[in-house]
Amino acid sequence: MPVKKALKFPDGFLWGAAISAYQVEGGIDNCDWARDEKMPKAGRACEHYRFYDKDFALAHSLGQNAHRLSLEWSRLEPEEGQFNHLALEHYQQVLSALHARHLEPFVTLWHFTLPQWLAVQEGWQNPKSVDYFCSYVEFVVSNLKGRVKFWLTLNEPEVYLLNGYIKPKWPPFKKSLFSAWQAKRNLIKAHQQAYLIIKKIQPSAQVSLPINFSWFSPRNKYSPIDWWMARLALWANGIFLRPNKKCMDFLAINYYTRRMVSIFTGFRNEFGMTNEQLTDMGWEIYPKGIYQILRRLKKYHLPVYITENGLADQSDKKRWPYIRDHLIWLHQAIEKGIDVRGYFYWSLMDNFEWADGFDPCFGLIEINYRTMERFIRPSAWQYAKTCQSNQLLR
Ligand code: FCB
Repeated sequence: MPVKKALKFPDGFLWGAAISAYQVEGGIDNCDWARDEKMPKAGRACEHYRFYDKDFALAHSLGQNAHRLSLEWSRLEPEEGQFNHLALEHYQQVLSALHARHLEPFVTLWHFTLPQWLAVQEGWQNPKSVDYFCSYVEFVVSNLKGRVKFWLTLNEPEVYLLNGYIKPKWPPFKKSLFSAWQAKRNLIKAHQQAYLIIKKIQPSAQVSLPINFSWFSPRNKYSPIDWWMARLALWANGIFLRPNKKCMDFLAINYYTRRMVSIFTGFRNEFGMTNEQLTDMGWEIYPKGIYQILRRLKKYHLPVYITENGLADQSDKKRWPYIRDHLIWLHQAIEKGIDVRGYFYWSLMDNFEWADGFDPCFGLIEINYRTMERFIRPSAWQYAKTCQSNQLLR
């Protein structure tokens, strides 16, 4: 869709980028990902734990007014029931540094990594995980409530179940539908109870749970089976939304791609596509999907924040067109009456992309992992123009 005129975003719109602790901080060695021999190691990552202020200064210079980050549970509670006040102070300073740069924090309480003491007790499969999570949340929120308004409880639990229990290619590597079901039940309870705890400690807080929505299309549009499978996949996207809808103050949507669905080949996204249409991860670039997802979610009548959207693109040639085209469709959704209030690009900087290690380059900022130097990519300056002007210019 070509841009015809400047597209103005609503006043007060939040513009930012997202990161998560294990992917950028460095020096996290007490969690399941760091301990599992099968996984690549994040090691020093981007040394963001040390350079956070420098990174926030860059985000600010790029015109951003919000920032999504996560707290590392294994730093804050290194042993069961023992909270680390030095780690807490660190995050207090991180949040103060964000405020000093006028960046509104969106804080994720759990982004895929579990403290080792919980991982060895079966992690989210263990019903006690709900209480453990709640006591961690209580500690964190009572101490950080003055610095955070937007809380995100559990990042993409459905992606975690898929990768940890069904495929499985992430810890805990348990190929079992029953275990996945147990973990799912506990994750839902954990969100609901955490929601109540946060609201009790901080009634003005805004709380949600980020969900990864892909768009699904039938590979063969004349095949009723493919069509039904695509509908089913879209429905399955909502497994953490439907039971939690009364415990969400806004929708937190992570959108990346579309998958083609076929009875013969399952869920894929590279059928007959040219390289131009794919990211370095092989994910289809399908900007309209963000609009199609938001139209489906309109019935929830909740404000929406896009808490992740982005691509791996080492060349940086596709990044700005990707962001621009998603913003055009996002604007279209706003015009159709959907109350979208913010957008976070994934990610502020290159980082540790889970099982794929350090190869994929998602960052607005490039990292030299040897020297830890930061380099702003050209696409970041393009995005900055939108952040600064609150509009998408022609
Ligand atoms: C999302 C994750 C995030 C990052 C991006 C590429 O599913 O939340 O940590 O890995 O994908």
